[in-house]
Amino acid sequence: MIAVETVSIKNLYRHVGEEVTLQGWLYNLRSSGKIFFLIIRDGSGIVQGVLVKKETSTETWEKAKQLTQESSLRVRGVVREEPRSPGGFEIQLTDLEIIGIAEPYPISLKEHGVDFLAERRHLWIRTPRQSAILRIRAGIEHASRVFFHERDFILADAPIITPAACEGTTTLFEIDYHGEKAFLSQSGQLYNEANAMALGRMYCFGPTFRAEKSKTRRHLMEFWMLEAEAAFFDFEDNMRLQEDLVYHIVSHVLQHHRADLDILKRDIGRLEAIKLPFPRISYTDAVELLNSKGIEFKWGDDFGAPDETAISDHFDSPVFVHHFPVGIKAFYFKPDPDNPEVVLGADLLAPEGYGEIIGGGQRLDDLKLLEQRIEEHGLPQEAFEWYVDLRRYGTVPHSGFGLGIERTVSWLCGIEHIRETIPFPRTLYRIYP
Ligand code: 4AD
Ligand code: MG
Repeated sequence: MIAVETVSIKNLYRHVGEEVTLQGWLYNLRSSGKIFFLIIRDGSGIVQGVLVKKETSTETWEKAKQLTQESSLRVRGVVREEPRSPGGFEIQLTDLEIIGIAEPYPISLKEHGVDFLAERRHLWIRTPRQSAILRIRAGIEHASRVFFHERDFILADAPIITPAACEGTTTLFEIDYHGEKAFLSQSGQLYNEANAMALGRMYCFGPTFRAEKSKTRRHLMEFWMLEAEAAFFDFEDNMRLQEDLVYHIVSHVLQHHRADLDILKRDIGRLEAIKLPFPRISYTDAVELLNSKGIEFKWGDDFGAPDETAISDHFDSPVFVHHFPVGIKAFYFKPDPDNPEVVLGADLLAPEGYGEIIGGGQRLDDLKLLEQRIEEHGLPQEAFEWYVDLRRYGTVPHSGFGLGIERTVSWLCGIEHIRETIPFPRTLYRIYP
């Protein structure tokens, strides 16, 4: 039995020349007859273990022969620097303990179709590429929490079961709440506004749900949103906060996830090119830009994915598109006092065609106008009474936004489809596993 004081693969660089114990799974096994090369993964990284027949006991050698892909094991060996090996290190194995021999593994090292992999998502996440994406996702979440904590934004969790819509009624998932109709939250925003009036500056981070009928590479039914709301923040303060947040996240990923970005073959130059402040373009100018590129687009329509790509292709950094027409935005946006046809809202579009990663803006703080909008949008007055109260008792200018975590992961990882950005994606046609 090998001692269970173990090190993780990502920390091997601290143990060069030492004998260590690792535990994990066998990703791949090659043999020359006299040497076994074991590729071992432990979730933090991948390392090659080398087992030489003439330097090992017959018992250990026989154990190695039994190993199959994804068998779990514990090994002991001496760490060496080896630039040609994945991760840059190698382990000269001295001992091997089998924990569980795996049955023939369905996911081999060859290419598989997406449906095949999606059906086996619980196993697919073990592959180096998928694990790298999930580590970067965790890094983005961590960096975001640190960012808000350092700026005195207080974390206040929003409810998931709600009595009313935030982002319009077409994408609500309805549930039966002890005989009453209720919905899964599309956004924590309305509650964030209440929490901002209590706490000044706040943020929430949680799952949100949209019954999107569209099957695109950017939409999930269940996704995680990082949302901030701040009292006394105007539209400009709000954009500055967003660009600082996104810049902070990009810097964190560049600094702490080089190895993961390498596994994904991400073009790091594109991320390093990002500069503060981010460019800003009004909706009206964006329409003109599209038209000048020969793309037909009418003022008053909402951008589709190709339009967003055409706009963002114009810039190296993420770009804010601001002052959208009232008609295409939710009921809670504040109209521009200088031009009430447009609202003080902005979307942040990621570069390289990854689309909208943030939606946000300044909120309607006028009681009468808010009541009017709720009516115009055909929303049930009673369900919004508490929200309207926020304008009755000490209303202040305030702003906020929501950043889609999966969209951000897609962009930073440089991956085609949003389904790879969350451990268990919920897409239009798949809820298993
Ligand atoms: O632009 P959205 O709809 O904004 C809101 O929900 C605001 N209430 C947020 C706020 O101001 N507190 O959504 C925000 C972001 C989008 O920019 C996008 O990144 C992401 O959420 N998003 C989705 N991500 C994956 N799948 C979907 N179906 C998404 N819908 C929105
Ligand atoms: Mg939006």
